[in-house]
Amino acid sequence: MSVTGEARKITTHTLLEMKRKGEKISMLTAYDYSFAKIVDESGMDVILVGDSASNVMAGHETTLPITLDQMIYHAGSVVRAVHRALVVVDLPFGSYQGNSKEALNSAIRIMKETGAHAVKLEGGREVKEAVERIISAGVPVMGHLGLTPQSIYKFGTYVVRAKEAEEAERLREDARLLESYGCFAIVLEKIPAKLATEVSASIKIPTIGIGAGSGTDGQVLVLHDMLGINKDFTPRFLRRYLNLYDQVKDATENYIRDIKSSDFPNKKEQY
Ligand code: KIV
Repeated sequence: MSVTGEARKITTHTLLEMKRKGEKISMLTAYDYSFAKIVDESGMDVILVGDSASNVMAGHETTLPITLDQMIYHAGSVVRAVHRALVVVDLPFGSYQGNSKEALNSAIRIMKETGAHAVKLEGGREVKEAVERIISAGVPVMGHLGLTPQSIYKFGTYVVRAKEAEEAERLREDARLLESYGCFAIVLEKIPAKLATEVSASIKIPTIGIGAGSGTDGQVLVLHDMLGINKDFTPRFLRRYLNLYDQVKDATENYIRDIKSSDFPNKKEQY
């Protein structure tokens, strides 16, 4: 809290400063107003409206089907709830790879129609023009390297990336390039911890890891995974802080039981 009692708002500059001071950055996804309000009030630094919404909100197998309009719907709902965190929105598959003008138009739609603070997109040197054009319009860009789920059909699997020397070297260079294009931070997904630590030390902008060990400047998880809403997703990197699937199931079973037995509503719960 500041001297006025207002929560300190997080900006891209705050994140750079946090890296400089060695303060870890917390980031979590959210896709709707109610959860975003809780996450923001918990003091999260960054809220990512991830295209993982395609998986956890819409039930798709991959992140590919989610559309720009759908991302805008989720992002607008999140932004209405947030007072402190930096809100970053994923540019969905197909909204930026075509050409840099299309990328800029997609980023502008997100910023105008949702009130979000930044966008994220996947890739290294191949997204140079898109990144530079979006940043030239004043929109902060977060990069994303390592396992990039929008390219899942190119990789073929969700296994750890950059274990081989050649791919690791390409990732090191891509991180430096994204920094030189003007990105304010980079997500490093599912790469060896040693490589993530090295990359983090080699650039001035913060790295946010997921399955990339403890040497990154911050950590991100998918909300539904860390709350234990998804029971089937059990990667090694995931720490579950709740078992919400079972808790919600117990509650809804109790509700059904109380209706069937005419216990609910009781005299105090009616007019
Ligand atoms: O879409 C998403 O949730 C993400 C995180 C896994 C970083 O990109």
